[in-house]
Amino acid sequence: MSDDRQWPGHIHPLLAARFSPYKFDPSGRVDDRTLGLLLEAARWAPSAGNSQPWGFLAARPGEPDHERVLRHLAPSSARWAADAGLLVVAVTRRTVDDSEVMYSEFADYDLGQAVAHLTIQAQALGLSAHQFRAFNLEALTEELRPNPGWAIVSMIAVGKAADEPPVVRQRRSVAELRADPWAARA
Ligand SMILES: Cc1cc2nc3c(=O)[nH]c(=O)nc-3n(C[C@H](O)[C@H](O)[C@H](O)COP(=O)(O)O)c2cc1C
Repeated sequence: MSDDRQWPGHIHPLLAARFSPYKFDPSGRVDDRTLGLLLEAARWAPSAGNSQPWGFLAARPGEPDHERVLRHLAPSSARWAADAGLLVVAVTRRTVDDSEVMYSEFADYDLGQAVAHLTIQAQALGLSAHQFRAFNLEALTEELRPNPGWAIVSMIAVGKAADEPPVVRQRRSVAELRADPWAARA
């Protein structure tokens, strides 16, 4: 594990500058064009067999869905996510309708890629994204009632960051990424 006390070097500035804010500027609105671009970026993610198993519910402050989503956040995420200009519920298609037949073996994996696209598009637009799982999954599922086969996985708060990245950001080293999964090799 290494402490990265400065911006990671040499990777693309959009990746290097990304962090998950714990404070959003409540005046930072997300307009229709921006929302469209975020979802467009998600749409162009790669997926297994081009199955595109992702789906989203997008809600901005003042919209009825925003209140419906907000009431199921855990206190830990409500503290900062409520001020974000946009909340996105990320949903994946795990099974074919209500059968037990898998829609795609890679449904959650592919949703993650679509969310990564959205996150970097947000960064390119001068916004920040904070993905989170701190919400009541059962209650939110009951509230939003996704179609059979679809499952809520995570949420993303998007908006104008009102804090700075932490001074120390812990990441496993590249050497660890390469070595940890494998038995020591001569
Ligand atoms: C699937 C997922 C779930 C997460 N859940 C939470 C959460 O519930 N609360 C939270 O504060 N952050 C959550 N995060 C954010 C991570 O804690 C954060 O990405 C990680 O600490 C690295 O920090 P960084 O994004 O600023 O580089 C989540 C991130 C992902 C991808």
